[in-house]
Amino acid sequence: MKFSKRVENLLPYLFVQISKKIAARKARGEEVISFGIGDPDIPTPAHVIDELVRASHDPANHRYPESEGLPEFRKAVADWYSRRFGVKLDSEKEVVSLIGAKEGIAHISLCLIDAGDVALVPDPGYPVYAIGTMLSSGEPYYLPLNENNRFLPELDSIPADILKRSKVLWLNYPNNPTGAVAGLDYFNYVVDFAKKHELIICHDGPYTEVAYDGYKPVSFMQAKGAMDVAIEFHSLSKSYNMTGWRIGMAVGNQSVIDALRRIKSNIDSGVPQAIQHMAIKALSESQDCVKEHNQIYQGRRDKVVKTLNALGIQTNIPKASLYIWAHCPQGYKSAEFAENLLEQVGVVVTPGNGYGPHGEGFFRISLTINDQMLDKGLAKFAQWKNQKV
Ligand SMILES: Cc1ncc(COP(=O)(O)O)c(C=O)c1O
Repeated sequence: MKFSKRVENLLPYLFVQISKKIAARKARGEEVISFGIGDPDIPTPAHVIDELVRASHDPANHRYPESEGLPEFRKAVADWYSRRFGVKLDSEKEVVSLIGAKEGIAHISLCLIDAGDVALVPDPGYPVYAIGTMLSSGEPYYLPLNENNRFLPELDSIPADILKRSKVLWLNYPNNPTGAVAGLDYFNYVVDFAKKHELIICHDGPYTEVAYDGYKPVSFMQAKGAMDVAIEFHSLSKSYNMTGWRIGMAVGNQSVIDALRRIKSNIDSGVPQAIQHMAIKALSESQDCVKEHNQIYQGRRDKVVKTLNALGIQTNIPKASLYIWAHCPQGYKSAEFAENLLEQVGVVVTPGNGYGPHGEGFFRISLTINDQMLDKGLAKFAQWKNQKV
């Protein structure tokens, strides 16, 4: 059989490799404690599940959905953006539903990238920005996120010949995997830069609701002039523990949203309507559940940071996101450390270099693990450390 170059060049997705290692260990009867994927362990809120039950009994929801999403869903998104960020969106033209943000992130490159075009992607970064670019025969150009720059890319250091070929700039704050945040000053600077260099900005913001210590992340769409050059991907996955239901949205510049809608209508048939009703419920009713989840994550964050720091492992303390970005213990590279930890004490972390070359030397801990397993996992870190001394 002969496959396309596209497929032949495609490496297995980061978490597929990690899941295989976990499965192999479990098959040998060994316990595994995973701080790997960012998949909330807390259930979807009960009032949202109740809405699924109600909506699934309605035959109107048994038929093909529209790929752009129900008008009521798009209106709920627009109303939520207005309440949460003060951003006004036309729900007819500036909002589209997604089968999870990942789907839209992968498909947008089909709208914006031709063979040989460049997309500027953060390194380390969520792998789908670069993968989507490559699947559209484009070239990712990696923008280093360095700790001494608070993990914000320095756009002025992009070489002129690269900028000339660049069509898209990807950003993601609150950031996966570094946990870094960006404010409106930075976003305003990015909009000016994009206008000057004719770039379209794809901002990925699924973690704006997962924040700590009273911090309130901003939306990229709040930046001055963002509507002229940007779209933002968002998701119900992390805010409402809905990763398994697959629903998200893209909002922003009308022409870009329209292009995404056109591509999607030729590829998918949208999000099951009963799930869109769940999302409407989640976005429209009290946001107390979000606060409760954040309190749980904040407690876990503090425990992880305290324990790792006491073991001499240096970490960042995130104001938002589900992740702790930590330095590997001295003498270890990312993959080597992750493998060693799994082999020696059965603990899974994500190696930083899985997110790009500038993730080398780091590992990522996800806070989506129940408290009992978290305590057990942290004790195993200590055990690992003691074995090394
Ligand atoms: C930065 C980032 N963007 C997008 C996604 C995908 O979200 P969804 O579940 O909506 O597809 C993730 C999931 O981990 C993520 O970390």
